Amino acid sequence: MRVVLLGAPGAGKGTQAKKLIEEFGIPQISTGDLLRAAVASKSDLGVQAKSFMDRGELVPDSVVLGMVQQRLGQPDCQKGFILDGFPRNTSQAEALDNMLSSMNMPLNAAVDIDVPLDDLMKRLTGRRTCSSCGQMYNIYFNKPKSEGVCDKCGGSLFQRDDDKEDTIKKRLDVYTSQTAPLIGYYKNKGLYKCINGNGSIDEIYSSICSALKAA
Ligand code: AP5
Ligand code: MG
Ligand code: ZN
Repeated sequence: MRVVLLGAPGAGKGTQAKKLIEEFGIPQISTGDLLRAAVASKSDLGVQAKSFMDRGELVPDSVVLGMVQQRLGQPDCQKGFILDGFPRNTSQAEALDNMLSSMNMPLNAAVDIDVPLDDLMKRLTGRRTCSSCGQMYNIYFNKPKSEGVCDKCGGSLFQRDDDKEDTIKKRLDVYTSQTAPLIGYYKNKGLYKCINGNGSIDEIYSSICSALKAA
């Protein structure tokens, strides 16, 4: 199964991808996670990416495309993959199509987790992430059992640098102007599946699974 997860910042792409990994045993490729790892390692790529991420803007395609191409070539992607947060604009989507067609691995579906923009601010300001295992929590909707500590592994929880109100507003604008046009792009290819992203994490997960079975 080769899937793109679309959806605005905070829609739940990462949350749902982690459930899909457990069930289907295929890797999640999150360009945001790859970029944050590069930032943390202070590599040249990370230093270049950080200023864009802190402003809530897209990192240049030249940086992101190389990273994705390299990741898709790894052996675990032969079984399939979940792309989370990539592509983010039409030129990335076209580049992905070219990469996948040369690897003979076309996409099966583009799943859009659809959440009204007004609901996203609270999801993002409330998000906390485990520094050890990456599990996501939310102080409003999905609290850890004990504050600041991961239920799964006991790791400490942190707040992302770009989850500040001003940066979130910018990320939502960038989504509307640059990423939302991908809805039309994947509709034209017959791959688009819209999932109602209002509801519990488990309800949304089961809608995604039904859409994927039909794909
Ligand atoms: P990225 O890391 O991709 O961030 P994003 O797209 O803004 O999405 P998020 O990770 O914020 O949200 P999500 O949909 O994964 O939601 P989550 O599951 O965490 O990108 C960050 C930056 O990197 C970009 O701004 C850009 O600079 C750069 N970048 C990345 N990819 C790029 C690319 N391809 N090209 C160029 N630049 C790129 O959930 C959010 C919260 O809601 C959590 O707290 C969760 O617990 C909670 N939640 C989840 N589901 C529910 C529910 N059903 N009900 C209530 N709460 C819920
Ligand atoms: Mg994410
Ligand atoms: Zn953890």
